[in-house]
Amino acid sequence: MTNDNKFCHFCGVSITANSFAQKEGIYCCESCFLKEKEFRAVEVARDNAYLALTEALASALDIREHETGLHSKRVACHTLLLARSYTDDNEKLRQVYWGSLLHDIGKIGIKDAILLKDGPLTEAEWKEMRKHPELGHTILSAATFMKDAADIVMCHEERYDGSGYPNGLAGEAIPWSARIFSVIDTLDAITSDRPYRRGASFDKAKAVILRMAGSQFDPEAVDVFVSEEKTLREMVALKCGHASLDDIFKE
Ligand SMILES: [Fe+2]
Repeated sequence: MTNDNKFCHFCGVSITANSFAQKEGIYCCESCFLKEKEFRAVEVARDNAYLALTEALASALDIREHETGLHSKRVACHTLLLARSYTDDNEKLRQVYWGSLLHDIGKIGIKDAILLKDGPLTEAEWKEMRKHPELGHTILSAATFMKDAADIVMCHEERYDGSGYPNGLAGEAIPWSARIFSVIDTLDAITSDRPYRRGASFDKAKAVILRMAGSQFDPEAVDVFVSEEKTLREMVALKCGHASLDDIFKE
């Protein structure tokens, strides 16, 4: 006799004809179904706590940099949109969101006199500023649940042609998540308002991004940017990203 190789979704025991079937899966008994529900509730609470902490850290940095328009949150939401063209794995998408949100967290370790300098940086000041990806990576490395997010933090200033920093990585040596982030960071830098100027149009940003495909940007990431242009235009016009946690982590 065969039982069609079915196993309880929670405890994994082999299932009989009298099993407990639910839309979430088949269970050997009601107790296993209820236990799994409980586990899932704990996971959702944990994700919400991680997200709230990460967003709080990112907004602390935005405030220190005198950013008024939720820059970190916007680039995280916009990068997440492009990331969905690469994967539908929720854990990978979480890492992309967290890494994008905290991309500049290493700037916490840069002196105000450099970070907030009103005017061009000297070569020595740039040397300091260029340390921020590694500082950020060190900060996030302490949190094992942010391992892949830390890769974005480390590589977000790299350029496709190898002219970026801190390691001068080129092409696919740069994680795909950092390659799409880079396109979005430029979109946000061009289209958002600054104290000394109004943000430029989406079309202006798009022209810059297309011009730098193959040099600063990965051509494939630029193609994905173009394929999501309609949604990105709407998000940029709204000056925000997604409305809720459910939108961020679609199950
Ligand atoms: Fe940066």
